[in-house]
Amino acid sequence: MPEFFASCPKGLSEVLEKEIRDLGIENTKLTQLGVFFESNWKECYRVNLSSRIASRILKPIKDFFAYHQDELYQQVSKIDFSKHFDVTKKIKVECSLHDSILHDQRFVAMKVKDAIADHFREHTGGVRPDVDTKDPDVRIHVRGIKNEFSIALDTSGESLFKRGYRMESGLAPLKENLAAGLLKLSSWDQQSPLIDPFCGSGTFLIEAALMALKIPPGSFRKRFGFQNLKNYDPEVWNMVVSEEIAKEKDSLDFKLYGFDLDSQVLKKAKANAENAGVLQYLQFQRKDIAELESPVSLGTVVTNPPYGARLGEEDLLHDTYKDFSHSLKTHFKGWNAWVLSGNKEFSKDFHLKNSRKFFVFNGAIECRFLSYAIK
Ligand SMILES: C[S@@+](CC[C@H](N)C(=O)[O-])C[C@H]1O[C@@H](n2cnc3c(N)ncnc32)[C@H](O)[C@@H]1O
Repeated sequence: MPEFFASCPKGLSEVLEKEIRDLGIENTKLTQLGVFFESNWKECYRVNLSSRIASRILKPIKDFFAYHQDELYQQVSKIDFSKHFDVTKKIKVECSLHDSILHDQRFVAMKVKDAIADHFREHTGGVRPDVDTKDPDVRIHVRGIKNEFSIALDTSGESLFKRGYRMESGLAPLKENLAAGLLKLSSWDQQSPLIDPFCGSGTFLIEAALMALKIPPGSFRKRFGFQNLKNYDPEVWNMVVSEEIAKEKDSLDFKLYGFDLDSQVLKKAKANAENAGVLQYLQFQRKDIAELESPVSLGTVVTNPPYGARLGEEDLLHDTYKDFSHSLKTHFKGWNAWVLSGNKEFSKDFHLKNSRKFFVFNGAIECRFLSYAIK
């Protein structure tokens, strides 16, 4: 059975493993940066379509040791890429290196690209695939840790957080797969009201609505990487799409509420929710956090308050967190609040004791996802 690797933001591999197992795949192995799973290609299509948390699904094709650039080149030239994709496909090599002997990512990517191109030239009468770094048909990943290298085909294509419904974003939007992973870490039960008082472009609320409706997050995407591989079977893909769409729920009997100070960003949130087909379940309102009141008697707060303080904005943000804390204590008794915090300083202004804590990465920023039981 082929082995695949689902990558995800650091801190979310456990919830990703559970998600993959819930999709029916039993053989999984957890790592810090993602999950290995064994499955046939049909299930790989399914994970691409239905995983809310994965960033990409890779198909490792060769692991080897290399101590020198020539060795890397030799090892990659031995791979029969023509078995996996046609010479007419435009390719891109992406590279990530950690403590690697060969430390220049661009140079390693170029060496691998040369080895692939030369391999094709030798085996296809002088023809080689074109490179397209902006819109490739096939992406090849190289990962190097010390002297150990792994070459993988990217079955996703563009990263899976790019669902296809977001046209508009605020200044610091969360990636959709990070938002979905945080919702899974939170105690929200997917059947009761959810509030995001700093909703920005609406990522938490839209992902939550899709999750509760069981709409596959990949159903808005036009294409996936596996569709450019030689073994792509459109019939199997159509079967997976029908099976996953059959799981969708018709409607929700609760609402999700978004508030933000910025009326422009709320327009974007509405447009995104409309694109995702969930606007009817969402309510947006312009509101300063100091004036926030609960729109329903009980629910869950999940939010990502501002923390990328520009110079001079710090004082303002200290007040924002104090106001947030005050609004929670005054109007949200009995609720659970989950807050993604990228800055310890501001959490202190909260004057609330967190009951649970997860460490997650929002891009390169290490954040804490904190839970507060409001009394
Ligand atoms: C980090 S962004 C949230 C991004 C959002 N999660 C998304 O994915 O687009 C923080 C948001 O808080 C809003 N904000 C800042 N101060 C506020 C306040 N006093 N009351 C309400 N919203 C505020 C900003 O307009 C911004 O949209």
